[in-house]
Amino acid sequence: MKHYTAKAHTNIALLKYWGKADSELIIPTTSSISLTLNEFYTQTTVWFDSTLDQDRVVLDGILLSTKASTKVVHLLNLVRQLSGLTSYAHVESHNHVPTAAGLASSASAFAALAGAASRASGLTLSRQDLSRLARRGSGSASRSIFGGFAQWERGHSDLTSFAKPIMEEVTWPIQLVTVLINDQPKKVSSRTGMQLAQTSAPGYQQWVADTNAANSAALTAIFNQDLATLGCLAEENALAMHALNPTATPPFTYLTTQSWAVIRLAQTLRNNKGIPVYATMDAGPNVKLISQPHDTSVIMQALHQILPNVQTQIATPGPGINIVEG
Ligand code: DP6
Repeated sequence: MKHYTAKAHTNIALLKYWGKADSELIIPTTSSISLTLNEFYTQTTVWFDSTLDQDRVVLDGILLSTKASTKVVHLLNLVRQLSGLTSYAHVESHNHVPTAAGLASSASAFAALAGAASRASGLTLSRQDLSRLARRGSGSASRSIFGGFAQWERGHSDLTSFAKPIMEEVTWPIQLVTVLINDQPKKVSSRTGMQLAQTSAPGYQQWVADTNAANSAALTAIFNQDLATLGCLAEENALAMHALNPTATPPFTYLTTQSWAVIRLAQTLRNNKGIPVYATMDAGPNVKLISQPHDTSVIMQALHQILPNVQTQIATPGPGINIVEG
């Protein structure tokens, strides 16, 4: 059968997805807004093969065990259902998302898998349907189908929950400075973390209401190229999300003393120096600083004053998924 290769980039949510209204279909409790990044991506090749007796998943040259490939097989099963194909597949995936960067690779991984597997099975899905399919692998993957700014509309069913492009060509100066915080705390996966917050954090419903309300303000800020408004909305949303976690049962947190030092630095640079820099964090300790390329050297200097050996990586707006034969 024909081979197809898809390249999908990671995305970082500015307004977060942190909880599911339907965990089987992965329908979120909030609409979310993200920026797709140019520097980090996953490239995946899929071909179906009637001589295989199970799916064969190779990630960065290593054959995954049945247990490690469960989520991949789940998505392949959905593709088989949609296409009517019965054979198993070869999946070969390469992550260009340095693990040390603490950037979620599941978004780019499941977007690339959905793209390559659907085409290899003979399906030609619209980008909307591809976003719905990627969503079933990992919610945040729904947004990696699109470049630049994207919004995942929470919807209320499989058919109505998908991401759409807001502004694929980002012509205004915006970047994310990823600050690598080394002392990783014990890992709680995003899937587990959001479930704990949703089922036991007392402030969860308020966070959902606030996040859904912030979506229209964030869209306006993006269209107005208004970094200050967008950055404030993003930082508030991330801090409110991370404030839920220590109030869950059992309590947990992703943020370390160093994460807080970087968050405070962003607030100090804004308040004392008038530099537009805003913090956002996902299911890990690393902080991403939403900022302008123009301010990079001031931000780096200030960062190295508080954390002399800290590593950073700069990420800029990137493209949507690309799928080719071969
Ligand atoms: C904090 O998409 O990894 O990055 O749907 O359970 O696979 P599952 O979760 P996932 O969660 C991402 C959570 C987040 C916020 C976001 O990307 O919106």
